[in-house]
Amino acid sequence: MEIQEIRTFGRRHGKKISNHQQWLVDNVLPVILPKNIKKAGDFILEIGFGNGEHLRELALQYPDKIIIGAEPFMNGVSSLLSSIWDESTKAIKPEYKNIYIWPDDVRIILKNDSAEFLPFKLSQIYVLHPDPWPKARHEKRRLLNSDFLNMLSSKLENNGSIIIGTDHHEYYDWVLNQLKNTSLKIKSTDVDIIKTRYQKKNKANTVAPKYIILSN
Ligand SMILES: C[S@@+](CC[C@H](N)C(=O)[O-])C[C@H]1O[C@@H](n2cnc3c(N)ncnc32)[C@H](O)[C@@H]1O
Repeated sequence: MEIQEIRTFGRRHGKKISNHQQWLVDNVLPVILPKNIKKAGDFILEIGFGNGEHLRELALQYPDKIIIGAEPFMNGVSSLLSSIWDESTKAIKPEYKNIYIWPDDVRIILKNDSAEFLPFKLSQIYVLHPDPWPKARHEKRRLLNSDFLNMLSSKLENNGSIIIGTDHHEYYDWVLNQLKNTSLKIKSTDVDIIKTRYQKKNKANTVAPKYIILSN
């Protein structure tokens, strides 16, 4: 990684992945890196997709669009690879052929001085349950700071949307404050979104997630 940044994520590796998952990382992942996108089209990005439940929903919901997921946690990446791979045909399941994966910090593909830069604009950008980094001394690790929001804004199509969801209400308010240093506008706070793994962990649903949709 050539870009020196404050790290916004926790671990890159959890428990050891299976041999089959490692095979998918070594053989399938290189084929679906964003640099292999050849088509023009409509692009959607999900940042920090975790195990990829919502990303797969996006792929099904928008079969004609290209869905790019960024996630540095390799156990999440390998879990998504397992769920889009059909072992019987030894190919990606047809309904997930529109998925591309960036297995690292999303800022690497968003910075225009990076070799991995995504050279196109995005119609939708999702950030669902970003790490809240609740301790004051970790606040600098929060991904959705104004610099990052400005970076997302520059990658957004004219009528594009940034969709943010979190059940950490203090972080939500912090993001609203960060918006003051951007030109992004609030389009809506009323979003009906499928439950991600992180959200499902909050079984009693004691804290309702809050959403915000932003546009340029
Ligand atoms: C709390 S988890 C939520 C995962 C998933 N969105 C969900 O709701 O289940 C936050 C995720 O964001 C990822 N993340 C943090 N910083 C990131 C970055 N700079 N680029 C891409 N992903 C990042 C983390 O690795 C982690 O998997």
